[in-house]
Amino acid sequence: MTIAMIDVLVVGAGFGRDFLHLYQSHPAVGAVGLVEPDALVRREVVDAYGLDGEYASLDDALTSGRWDAVHLLSPVRFHVEQTLAVLESGRSCASAVPMATSLDGIARVRDATASAAGCYMMMETALYQREYLHALHLRDSGALGRITYLSGAHMQDLDGFPPYWMGYAPMQYATHIVAPILGLANAHAESVACLGSGELLPSHRGDGSNPFPLETALFQLDGETPLAAQVTLSFFENARAYTEGFNVYGDMGALEWPSVEGERAVIYTAGPQDGARRGRPISRDEIDVPDRVDTLPPELRAYVRPGVYQPPGDRPTLPVHAWHGGSHPHLVREFVSAVTGGRESAIGAARAASITAPGIVAHHSALRGGRMLTIPRF
Ligand SMILES: NC(=O)c1ccc[n+]([C@@H]2O[C@H](COP(=O)([O-])OP(=O)(O)OC[C@H]3O[C@@H](n4cnc5c(N)ncnc54)[C@H](O)[C@@H]3O)[C@@H](O)[C@H]2O)c1
Repeated sequence: MTIAMIDVLVVGAGFGRDFLHLYQSHPAVGAVGLVEPDALVRREVVDAYGLDGEYASLDDALTSGRWDAVHLLSPVRFHVEQTLAVLESGRSCASAVPMATSLDGIARVRDATASAAGCYMMMETALYQREYLHALHLRDSGALGRITYLSGAHMQDLDGFPPYWMGYAPMQYATHIVAPILGLANAHAESVACLGSGELLPSHRGDGSNPFPLETALFQLDGETPLAAQVTLSFFENARAYTEGFNVYGDMGALEWPSVEGERAVIYTAGPQDGARRGRPISRDEIDVPDRVDTLPPELRAYVRPGVYQPPGDRPTLPVHAWHGGSHPHLVREFVSAVTGGRESAIGAARAASITAPGIVAHHSALRGGRMLTIPRF
């Protein structure tokens, strides 16, 4: 069933703030509401954006009889239960990553989507950032040739983050790297061997279930050509500035993520072996990766870059950050389009599971000293 307009509820006013202006600007979205347990934060955000509804809890919002679709941006530990509650209420559900932190959690969400009236979407920013969209273009235009290898790293210093991040197993948040790698390889991750590296200081250990500040994994992919992919995640005790990106290497061309976030990506292109030298000539170019806004409603296009937003009424303008490679408008476009079109989203439960399960199993491998483990298919 298709519907012309939907009302959308955003849950959590941390990262959730970055999506409010996008839903308010979307031509197929009517009302926009917020769930935020912190009363002071809720008041500030509802006033700043001129929102159409506010709740202290998701349960209050779901019993209100309002809202067609819900976008969860609450802390990770709530994702599975809140997804189940939203889907059971008959509404569509978008969830910030990760879908779950256990294989059982993935299975429960997958099972719930099977009988749900609404759709599910894992809001994986990495699948709509401009670098990924450009790499897909390079692959599909033949510029990469045959893909030979993929790698990536997410390194972020979580000192000073909310206490629930202490001791978080890095590979349970591997989706930002696993997603573009599997997307570019058009493959599933079949198996993984992962090692933990370093030892968390007592102040970073949380509940003690994860000893590692960093985990590094080798995945075997199952595409047409068997490929290996290396993924590294680190959250503590690593003096590396934030990076969250992938590299893809083909026999004709390669793309490497900028070593400094926000700088230019590097493209390598191989020329023909000319018989006069050993090895093919390989050129190196730094490029400004283009925005790809043609699929976005005109009202959302400006928001792939930082700027300002004019909320409804006479409210002061608000800054727009456009983090994560300009991906947020694309995620909102796809989720709203799936809900209004009555169709499955581009990152439904099966794809979300294929992106989330590899990191979960990688952490199991790290806890077993790097044993190669099979990744279940959902
Ligand atoms: N690139 C990305 O995809 C990306 C980037 C940042 C964060 N995230 C994800 O977004 C989510 C939110 O991240 P954050 O940094 O804003 O987290 P956060 O811990 O700062 O919390 C966000 C808000 O949720 C509220 N909250 C707490 N418990 C809640 C509950 N039970 N129901 C509703 N709201 C609740 C908090 O009061 C807070 O205002 C996380 O799951 C995180 O993993 C994803």
